Amino acid sequence: MSQFAKPIGFFGKTLAKGMARGHKEFYKNALKAINPTKDDKYLEIGFGSGIFIKKYMSHVSRIAGIDHSDDMVKLASDINKKLVESGKAEFKQGNASSLPWDDNEFTVVAAIEVFFFLNETEKTLVEIFRVLKPGGRLIIEMAFNKDDGVDHKKYIKKMNLKLYSGEEMEKLLKKAGFNDIVIDYFEAVWIPIKGYIVPKGMVVKAIKK
Ligand SMILES: C[S@@+](CC[C@H](N)C(=O)[O-])C[C@H]1O[C@@H](n2cnc3c(N)ncnc32)[C@H](O)[C@@H]1O
Repeated sequence: MSQFAKPIGFFGKTLAKGMARGHKEFYKNALKAINPTKDDKYLEIGFGSGIFIKKYMSHVSRIAGIDHSDDMVKLASDINKKLVESGKAEFKQGNASSLPWDDNEFTVVAAIEVFFFLNETEKTLVEIFRVLKPGGRLIIEMAFNKDDGVDHKKYIKKMNLKLYSGEEMEKLLKKAGFNDIVIDYFEAVWIPIKGYIVPKGMVVKAIKK
């Protein structure tokens, strides 16, 4: 598994912090769709460094996160130390396909730059649907996708990516029970880490009615 899919050790921690710098535009576009309010109970899937939470989510009423890398749990807990110590934030180790929370706990769930790494996509969406309150929203941001006009063959193989088109995302989300699905795109972002251009990132928003 690549360090992007599961950052581990000193290198993984450094990479995760670097990703937060490289993902600035992805964060901005995800944030627009999340539109967090102080009453939100927020769950993040694959939080990595936890820097998105520190920068943009500290005002919500509750924060939770799951990441399958123990080192990311440590890093995000450290970076969000005050929120964790105050009892407002919790970062758990685990797989997105089995969420350790009760039904209807969250008003918003986000997955930023992680959905294309998931193996059990359908199971994960059913789990997200379960933990969302009725009226709750899911936001999935993916810089790489099947609608972006790029030949990703090399990276699909190297990083074991599973890319989706907007149409495929809509089908998956409907199957999991979501409604009001909106697929948006954002244009031309430069990732400083690799000098990589993302011509058409995708932000998906769906509601549990
Ligand atoms: C590319 S990083 C993105 C991190 C963060 N969202 C960001 O944009 O800075 C992907 C993160 O998702 C986590 N991840 C990947 N697959 C996962 C899974 N099945 N369950 C939980 N976490 C997962 C990885 O450990 C990693 O921290």
